[in-house]
Amino acid sequence: MKAKEQKTNKRGKKVTIIGAGNVGATVAYSLAMTGTCHEVWLRDRNPDISKGKALDMSQAANAARQHTVVKVAEKAEDIAGSDIVVVTAGSPRKPGMSRDDLLMVNAEITKEVVTDIKNHAPDSIIIMVSNPLDVMTYVALKVSGFPRERVIGMAGILDSARMAHFIYEKIGYGAGQIRASVMGGHGDSMVPLPKFSTVAGVPLTEILDPKDIEEIVERTKNGGAEIVGYLKTGSAYYAPAKSTAIMVEAILRDTKQIHPCAVYLDGEYGYKDVVSGVPLALGAGGVEKIFEVNLDDTQREQFAYSVDSVKRMIDVLKEKKFFDDIKG
Ligand code: NAI
Ligand code: 2OP
Repeated sequence: MKAKEQKTNKRGKKVTIIGAGNVGATVAYSLAMTGTCHEVWLRDRNPDISKGKALDMSQAANAARQHTVVKVAEKAEDIAGSDIVVVTAGSPRKPGMSRDDLLMVNAEITKEVVTDIKNHAPDSIIIMVSNPLDVMTYVALKVSGFPRERVIGMAGILDSARMAHFIYEKIGYGAGQIRASVMGGHGDSMVPLPKFSTVAGVPLTEILDPKDIEEIVERTKNGGAEIVGYLKTGSAYYAPAKSTAIMVEAILRDTKQIHPCAVYLDGEYGYKDVVSGVPLALGAGGVEKIFEVNLDDTQREQFAYSVDSVKRMIDVLKEKKFFDDIKG
């Protein structure tokens, strides 16, 4: 290879995934199978698990004739040069733990890993996945001090994909042609939007009656819990990982595609200092544009309730002085 070409290809795209559990490892596998980036680095507090998975996936990439190599970030410094850092590190709820206890545990984990990102990959774009998603995205934004365009939460793509599948199950046709739309926080109070959902371009409201649509809405809100009910020892990871990989691809390929993602609101929809899921365009700069769609009165009320439930959790962290040691 000539010197000039070597210089151009000095470093390809690097994606680091912190938390090599079910979701993190499946994101890595998805990226390796599509050759979306040159390097995927796994970082977990259990380095041996990361080493085993990284080797296995690098070998799978060879089988798939892809160029992606999966490596292990044993030291925090190894995340340097990442274009994107995906955070899926988290602790599951343990017996005796309240929701607030879990909130504190995962907020502390997020603070620890995002401090590493701030120190070693200060130009990266952070994609948060850990739950509670909207609050952890808020924590990542505050801890990193990054502009809001570079701290994005994954949930809306997943919730919309779940809704699309449930629509398919109701009508039995159109798989892959269904576009569903969900806004708001990733929790019981998410806001599925049947009015903005279509099957091959036809509005859902013209295909199904209100009772069927209501059942789809309720099942979508309960989509994560339905899978936990079957798996028993963990939560969903294939659809969450694919949804995360879609965000990585949109950013690395600068597609400017519009997806529902969680972002810090600074006046949009009338809210400030909170994170919620809204439609936005993803590109090389991260969030390139936030769209404010016209909600009817009911949708606005549901969105307000959802934003409020995220604000209440942020307030718990503030009351516990969680943000007090963060330097601006
Ligand atoms: P998991 O338990 O399989 O993996 C979590 C991984 O994080 C473990 O490998 C653990 O060792 C690692 N970890 C914990 N603390 C760490 C630290 N300080 N540094 C590095 N690694 C650390 O869990 P799973 O299923 O992969 O889920 C991950 C997170 O994503 C959970 O919080 C889950 O609730 C959330 N989630 C969010 C979704 C969304 O739509 N936003 C969808 C699915 C999961
Ligand atoms: C899900 O919706 C647990 O947030 C995760 O599957």
